[in-house]
Amino acid sequence: MPSSTKVWLITGSSTGFGRSLTEAVLKHGDCVIATARKPEQLQDFVERYPETVKAVRLDVTNLTEVKAAIDTAVSTFDRVDVLVNNAGYGLVGALEEYGEDQMRQNFETNFFGAVNMIRAVLPVLRSQGQGHILNMSAIAGFTNELGFSIYGAAKFALEGMSEAVSGEVGPLGIRVTIVEPGPFRTDFIGRSLVRAEHTIDAYNETSGKFIQFLDQIEGSQPGDPDKAAQVLIHVVESDHPPLRLVLGQYAYRKFQQKIQSLTHELDEWEAIAANTDFETTPLSH
Ligand SMILES: NC(=O)c1ccc[n+]([C@@H]2O[C@H](COP(=O)([O-])OP(=O)(O)OC[C@H]3O[C@@H](n4cnc5c(N)ncnc54)[C@H](OP(=O)(O)O)[C@@H]3O)[C@@H](O)[C@H]2O)c1
Repeated sequence: MPSSTKVWLITGSSTGFGRSLTEAVLKHGDCVIATARKPEQLQDFVERYPETVKAVRLDVTNLTEVKAAIDTAVSTFDRVDVLVNNAGYGLVGALEEYGEDQMRQNFETNFFGAVNMIRAVLPVLRSQGQGHILNMSAIAGFTNELGFSIYGAAKFALEGMSEAVSGEVGPLGIRVTIVEPGPFRTDFIGRSLVRAEHTIDAYNETSGKFIQFLDQIEGSQPGDPDKAAQVLIHVVESDHPPLRLVLGQYAYRKFQQKIQSLTHELDEWEAIAANTDFETTPLSH
């Protein structure tokens, strides 16, 4: 295998972003450990790219399968250059409407799934002295939507963890990029979206409106996952990849609105709220 060929490990390769990215990376000539909870869904990749793809069963909440997937990557292709923590799903409804298990399961996949993968791959990346981790967050992981309290919180957690880990592993030659898509045409709103266990009429005008919005845009989301896949390949090949990569016009607008409102609020309250320090402190400057 030429040294310029990269080895990618992608979680959730069955549909959506994961499938588009797996296809694009293989077409690009790189190698992929394509993973899915039902690896038979990846058979078409194996038939079309027998030399450069390996299909592996992986539920990111299962630590045994997580470790086995990393071992398979190393035993098959000798290394891992890029880990894409793509597996994830939405949970929609008002906070009060969710079942207890629904909330914890969502964090198990969207947050701890990525944590599991990163902790398992880091010894490999450290020994190589290089690697790139892409964490698929969402615009809801930077500016949340009514109806996405728990899903957005899991993505906020993913972003917070990624910021710190990026600084911890940067000096070891390992890069981290948080990917923040707006609505893209995948199975996210369709078969993958989990709805709250209960419905309470009092939330019809708040989270209920957001659920209606999702139902309306299903199948006509503006984002094209094939185009996103090309951008991700570009980012991995870049000498200066971003910590945050915002994808699509909708996400850009939302991101900019949040930055403007944060700046406005910060400025408005600074005179009162910043004067809470002791007169002398080592952090004064
Ligand atoms: N599409 C959007 O509008 C959008 C926007 C922002 C962020 N995202 C994020 O993008 C990522 C990919 O979603 P998508 O839009 O491509 O939706 P998708 O088509 O529904 O794909 C989701 C993928 O995640 C996998 N998955 C779910 N739970 C898993 C688990 N425990 N272990 C392993 N795989 C698991 C699914 O596998 P199965 O086939 O087995 O279910 C599927 O391959 C998610 O993290 C999502 O939060 C999507």
